[in-house]
Amino acid sequence: MKKEFLDLGKQPIANKFLKEDEVSDEFFFDLKVVFDEETKLVSMKDFVKPELMFNKDYKYNTSLSTPMVKHFKETAKVLSMKFRPKSVLEIGSNDGPFISNFPTETSYCVEPCDNFAVKTADMGYKSYTDFWNTELSEKIKSTHDEIDLIYSANCICHIQDLDDAFSAVSNLLSEGGVFVFEDPSLLKMLERGSYDQIYDEHAHVFSVTALDNVLRRNGLKIFSVDNLDVHGGSNRIYARHIDFGGVGDSVRQNIDEEMKFGLDDFQTYEIFAKRVQDSKDELLRCLGNLKHNGKKIISIGATSKSTTVFNYCGIDDSLIDCITDTTPDKQGLLAPGSHIPVVDRDSVNLSEYDYAFLGAWNFKEVIANKESEFVKGGGKFITHVPKIMTFS
Ligand code: TMP
Repeated sequence: MKKEFLDLGKQPIANKFLKEDEVSDEFFFDLKVVFDEETKLVSMKDFVKPELMFNKDYKYNTSLSTPMVKHFKETAKVLSMKFRPKSVLEIGSNDGPFISNFPTETSYCVEPCDNFAVKTADMGYKSYTDFWNTELSEKIKSTHDEIDLIYSANCICHIQDLDDAFSAVSNLLSEGGVFVFEDPSLLKMLERGSYDQIYDEHAHVFSVTALDNVLRRNGLKIFSVDNLDVHGGSNRIYARHIDFGGVGDSVRQNIDEEMKFGLDDFQTYEIFAKRVQDSKDELLRCLGNLKHNGKKIISIGATSKSTTVFNYCGIDDSLIDCITDTTPDKQGLLAPGSHIPVVDRDSVNLSEYDYAFLGAWNFKEVIANKESEFVKGGGKFITHVPKIMTFS
């Protein structure tokens, strides 16, 4: 049985930045979150149609994020050395920062956003402009050999029908092949109170416990887990066919830690929901007081996460003047739902602001280093993770 524990209100498409004339027809949906008592999976109650989120207008170019490009280069190196795959397939290959580390002849991309699939195709990779599902895995299997390494980053949690996605992997993975995927960690979200991991694209937020349950019923098992810092705390899951090889200690350690936290207990989620409500009240109090005292507030990073925060809390340009973002495609547009203008960082004199809210709190250190002049001039950052606080 699925039990609801959190209501994040009306939310827009988190990555759909708008022109002025698009504001009046903006799409909103109810963002509610449920816990499945059988599998322990945390998911959105009502999913958003994938085509509304993942299409040619998708704005998140991974290659524009220097820390993520470095992350994927290192990941590709580690996986190549560990598993020596003869063939690689990436699910959700975006504009190619991971796959570009593998040979074009034996590597394949799956990416539903046409704007990105075109890029990896131009780089010489066979790129399927499709959503990952059993039908596609059959199609690929009929034209290529089985695949030794199937990799996916920040994409499997987007897939609404996980049973279909995992059986599609099981169908295409070679006998000793590995399925490696990384997504934000539910445990980290609960520990840090980072409820903004939940937005339209994140159909699920994964625990190792829930993933093992769902993978196993689709012929796969987890044999190793890495805990990563990326995206505010992620898990890299290593899975393979259920009857192939053993299971490493890291799997039990992660599941034990999750059980200790009470991740299998609905009460844990009720406590989290109360924390989320308190975070909203406190953030509004903090921003309201600063505005009342004549302070100017800007936000850094027009992230999907900040879409959740701004829309759940009802924050608009009466509290935050504008959002800076390094992604050219977001600049000059309005942030989803809140309609706060998104601007190029270079067009703003940060010293005119007193406070900068960290929409990209997961890049806190990178941003604090980059903006050391702002801090020297007396500027302060505001974050809501793990609790509402200002710091410099
Ligand atoms: P993410 O948290 O989903 O990875 O998105 C990060 C967003 O933040 C992306 O749009 C780029 C933006 N960003 C900045 O504007 N300045 C920065 O210094 C960093 C690291 C990211």
